[in-house]
Amino acid sequence: METIPPALLPANMLAVLSVLLLYPYNPVSGVFQRLYCSLSDSCECDFKPNIRDLEWDLYKNVFGQPLAQDIVSEEVARFLQNKSPDRPLVLSFHGSSGTGKTLVSSMLGKYLFGSAMSSPYVHQFIPTLHFPRPDRVQEYREELKSWVKGNLTECARSVFLFDEMEKMPPGLIDVLEPFLGPSHVVFRTNYRKAIYVFIGTSGEEVINRKALESRQAGRDREEITWADLQDDIAQAIYNSTTSGFFRSSVVLQRLVGRFVPFLPLSRRHVERCVRAQLCQRGSCGRGDVVEAVAGGMTYAPVPGHYFSTAGCKAVPAKINFFL
Ligand SMILES: Nc1ncnc2c1ncn2[C@@H]1O[C@H](COP(=O)(O)OP(=O)(O)O)[C@@H](O)[C@H]1O
Ligand SMILES: [Mg+2]
Repeated sequence: METIPPALLPANMLAVLSVLLLYPYNPVSGVFQRLYCSLSDSCECDFKPNIRDLEWDLYKNVFGQPLAQDIVSEEVARFLQNKSPDRPLVLSFHGSSGTGKTLVSSMLGKYLFGSAMSSPYVHQFIPTLHFPRPDRVQEYREELKSWVKGNLTECARSVFLFDEMEKMPPGLIDVLEPFLGPSHVVFRTNYRKAIYVFIGTSGEEVINRKALESRQAGRDREEITWADLQDDIAQAIYNSTTSGFFRSSVVLQRLVGRFVPFLPLSRRHVERCVRAQLCQRGSCGRGDVVEAVAGGMTYAPVPGHYFSTAGCKAVPAKINFFL
């Protein structure tokens, strides 16, 4: 009887187990999956989406952002429930500084992969770091394209976060066009399972104007609807040279699934940010610090002083000052 050479065993086993993994309804596949994942560093093994905990965290720990909470939890759940999505999930976060955009994007990474934001399948781009020279756009275009392509080949479940889009050189993001649309297969890779999140302050004027009108009319921020803002955000970023989407075919071809508006934060939201931070540090009862930090922020516009100009940014630093 022929025996399998020991050196070949792990590779063979991995191949067999990976074939078995293709049958998710097989009752024994759970056992094989665990065995396979203990031997392999496949991204499907690190991919452990936990939509319930994501929703819980979003609704409990993000203050004053009903639209972002609803859209992000809805879109992520809808996308992940579909075993073979016909296009990737593309979200674009907009709003003033300190309103929770980066916070929400990191929650996404946290609840999708077992190794959270340190997963090798969560990729973050920061223009000032990765694309600092506007005169090198052509070079960056090639690099970004082959980089995204390479990562998708490695892991169809890759998550790409593009922060500080307002500093992204115009024209660069269009290189992603073939990855973001619904066409079949690009570069022989299934790229429709990927998630892209763009994050930037552009569009803040239209969002803040809508929030102000709503507030002046005595309405709750919960009454502002997604439909009130979508077209205005798309227009604003398409026409702005500092949005990363200036005259972008990504916007023109409607490749962004949803624009996610982050509303400006009121004093009561800043107070919640301070209280949450204080509790994390074991000083829950310091109402005096809540008062001092929230009272020390600047609120605009001048008549009304409704919204914190820096959102909840710098809250930890200010707490240090008063504690
Ligand atoms: N809506 C919010 N709810 C809870 N914390 C917030 C909110 N907005 C901002 N923060 C806190 O303020 C700080 C800055 O937020 P961040 O997400 O980096 O803002 P942005 O990316 O919109 O500029 C972080 O510590 C974050 O936890
Ligand atoms: Mg940010």
